[in-house]
Parts: sequence; structure tokens; C-alpha cells
Amino acid sequence: MKLTIEDVKSRFIKHFNGETGNVYAAPGRINLIGEHTDYNGGFVFPGAVEQGMIAEIKPNGTRIIRAYSIDLKDYYEFSLDDEKGPRATHFRYIFGVAKEMMKLGVKVEGFDTAFAGDVPQGSGMSSSAALESCFAYALNDLFGDGKIDSITLAKVGQATEHNYIGVKCGIMDQFASIFGKKDNLMRLDCQSGEYQYFPWKPKDYKLVLINSCVKHELVGSPYNDRRESCERVVEAIKAFKPEVKTLRDCTWDDLAQVKDKVSETDYKRAKYVLGEVDRVLAVCNALNAGEYETVGEKMYETHNGLSKDYEVSCDEIDFLVSLAADCGVTGSRIMGGGFGGCTINLVNKDLYPTFIEQVKSQYKSKFGKECKIIDVVIGEGARKLS
Ligand code: GLA
Repeated sequence: MKLTIEDVKSRFIKHFNGETGNVYAAPGRINLIGEHTDYNGGFVFPGAVEQGMIAEIKPNGTRIIRAYSIDLKDYYEFSLDDEKGPRATHFRYIFGVAKEMMKLGVKVEGFDTAFAGDVPQGSGMSSSAALESCFAYALNDLFGDGKIDSITLAKVGQATEHNYIGVKCGIMDQFASIFGKKDNLMRLDCQSGEYQYFPWKPKDYKLVLINSCVKHELVGSPYNDRRESCERVVEAIKAFKPEVKTLRDCTWDDLAQVKDKVSETDYKRAKYVLGEVDRVLAVCNALNAGEYETVGEKMYETHNGLSKDYEVSCDEIDFLVSLAADCGVTGSRIMGGGFGGCTINLVNKDLYPTFIEQVKSQYKSKFGKECKIIDVVIGEGARKLS
């Protein structure tokens, strides 16, 4: 069901004595290609989706944040002057964002808020970045005169993940949630920060997500462990090439030189990353030339790497990707951090109905549970609604 501003407004009025505040929204994201490349200084290719987070917020003249999660029917109060903050993650994101904004000199004060989202949680569509970006954008508007620039707002969300949640994520999700633009994907160079919009309106193709409903969870997951593997390989390369900072700076030759100096696992992971950096660029060229078959081939290659070398897939997702291949789908791969969540599929419009039918019935008969179909609509980034 699509979340509306009215859903949030009616809840806010109910919980905060008939008051009204400003309403803000920020989206989740998809990523066409460029997975686990952001924290390696590589390229990513995300877009914002129409699903996201909506929050109504009103300053309350105290140092207290009074927050109501509409989805979880959970209410909590916490002080901006707390050191530790709330334990429940949905409130911790808000606490973290407020603290990070304060570090930037924004004079955040207490506020009342009710918030809700329609990004399926654990789907790899970054419901957490939607929440962080929504509050970062809102607090900048309410307490910072809109002076904090967009990339810094994205970094506030990322710092919240690092410092309050414990996920050492890259910048892709928060970047997409803040910078998203309707009908456009974006290529971001995570090293230089340069980005470019790519209009996304292919005539003959659709993007569709298949949610395996295996909940992906990055907190306390092997996500940080993947990042550490990459950093160890960089350290080994630095021994003879000290100027190297991330895997993005490393060549295939550099990697070959350290093959016997790093573990087999670390080597395979770094090999995947180098390949993925190349694939994003190949996909950009293919898109510019309108060669969607090449885009699709690269997506399958990415999946293969993520599954076999980076080891962030699972049986359900591997099944969905190979089923897509069997059905003749142009491109398919696991999307996001991994360990469950969705596949992203580039499907020829003519094939779409048969593919969806096959996926639904075969997934059910293989795993005894339903998968969910999510048609991708590329939407706007963080904004004020009223
Ligand atoms: C998660 C992280 C991102 C990125 C992806 C994998 O979504 O938050 O920074 O690393 O995984 O591409």
C-alpha cells in the first residue's frame, strides 16, 4: 500500500494534541549496478524509488525528542543531551542524525515527530537511508536555515550508520536518497564525489524487484567483514605502491602481485570489486549506446561475482537469478548489501507477464513461501511536502 501524507498527518494530530508540523519525505533506492564499490572508492549507479519515509515534525521548545513510529506503534522520548541515546534502532537513527547535525554546528532543539515508511524493511532498498535522509533534510530546514549542503546531509546519514548503528557502510544509499531525481538514475564516483544524472525511460524494458522476503540485516552482519577484506588487500598493495588509498586505485597487476600475500578469501573479494568498477563503466557506455543486452549481461556477471567471490547471496536469491536467466530475462542480480532482500531485473516488456507468473509459482513451490513483486518507479529525493 502506498503511504500518503494524510496517513502521517492524522497520526501526528492524534499523538500530539491536535498540533501540526512540517512534513518531509525521503526515498529508498535501487541500484542498477556497482555493488560494494562505494566504500572502495568505485562507481555506483543508483536511483531513488517512490517508496520512502514520511515524517511530520514540530519543534517543542525543549531538549526532548518525542517520537512516534506509526508502523511499529512505538513511542519513545529521549534527550538531545543524552550520551547514549535510545536502544531501539528506529529511534537510534533519529538520535544519531540529530547528534551528527549538532556536530556540524546546527542548533538542533527538541521536537515532536510521527513517522512512517513504505520501503519494505530488510529488502535491500535502504529503508534506513530513507529515515536518516528524511531527518537530516528536515533538521537542516527547521534548525539550520537550509545551510548544510546536500552531500554533507548524505554524510550525516552515513555517519549515523557508522557511529550509532555499527554498519560501516559507504555513501551510496544516503546519496541516492538525498540527490534522487524523478526518472533519472545517477552515476556517482565515490572517490571524487562527481555525479551525473542518466535519464531512465527505456521504451522496451522495465525494472522489477523480486523480494525474496529473506530479511537482509547488515547490523552485526558480515558486511563490515567484507569491507575489512578489501582494506587488507589495499594494505598489502601499499607495501609497494604507497599512494594507493582504496581498491579503486589498484590495477589488476597490483592485485596479481599480492595474490600469495593475502588470504584466498580476501583475494576473491578484491577481484570481485575490481571487476565491478569496470562493469559500471561498461554499463554507462552501453546505456549511452542504447545497448540494453550488454547492460543485462553485466548484471548477470555482477551476480555471479557477488554470489561466488564476494559471497553475499543466498539460496533463494541464487534461485531467483537463475530462474530469470531461464526465462530469458535480460539482466538479473542480487541488489544492495546482500544476505537476502531483492533481486533487480531488467525485463523486456513483452516477457514481463510470463516472467512474473513463473517467478511467483516456482518460488512458492521451491521454498514454500511467497516472494513479492515490486515494479520500480524512479522518484524524487528528500524534500519538504508541506
Ligand atoms: C549497503 C550499504 C551501501 C553499499 C551497499 C552495497 O546498502 O549501505 O553503502 O555498500 O550495501 O553496494
